Amino acid sequence: MSTPENIHTEFHRMLGREAKEAQLRQRGHVFWFYGLSGSGKSTLANALERKLVELGYVTKILDGDNIRSGLNADLGFSDEDRVENIRRISEVARLFLDMGVVVFTSFITPKRDLRASALKVVGESDMTPVYVSASFETCAERDVKGLYAKAAAGGVKHFTGKDSSFEEPEASDPDWVISTDNKTEEESLNELLEKVLPLIKKTDS
Ligand code: ADX
Repeated sequence: MSTPENIHTEFHRMLGREAKEAQLRQRGHVFWFYGLSGSGKSTLANALERKLVELGYVTKILDGDNIRSGLNADLGFSDEDRVENIRRISEVARLFLDMGVVVFTSFITPKRDLRASALKVVGESDMTPVYVSASFETCAERDVKGLYAKAAAGGVKHFTGKDSSFEEPEASDPDWVISTDNKTEEESLNELLEKVLPLIKKTDS
């Protein structure tokens, strides 16, 4: 741990985010996709990114399994490690936001507190939590990574939705909800695109 009184941040001298956004002709924003494993977070983030890049936007995806194989390879799935996982990712998302980039994160982020702490780090006006909703049963049926079968056989510790809880958003939360239970990927993608574009479009371009 560094000694805080010996740290002198340089933020005040740095070129600000507005200059970066003007260069990129877009507004940076963090779309924080969360939901059960297999709910469709990464699929939607990837499809959305491709669409936006076609339209000329500069984007970045931060994805659970990728980050956990590098930056967060030292973390597991206890409550404590999930807090640290989300703390680091929030800071990374903010760094991209400072560059004016449109960021999509794809992490289970199972607790309301975790989502609230990400919002606090990134900034409420710069982040939209997006709940990619699909029931445990639907995700278990899809079982893209084979983890649901493995968890059912007792082979995955702290598995979300089984022995580690997932908290849905409450009605008072500002989160967007995209249900993938009964929709095609294209339908969900179009629904999202319509909501995303107004937040990242520069008014003068
Ligand atoms: S989070 O809860 O800390 O936000 P994160 O999104 O980073 O989780 O990682 C979830 C991914 O790790 C899942 O998509 C799955 O592939 C993998 N995984 C491995 N073990 C578990 C587990 N016990 N619970 C949930 N996901 C797991």
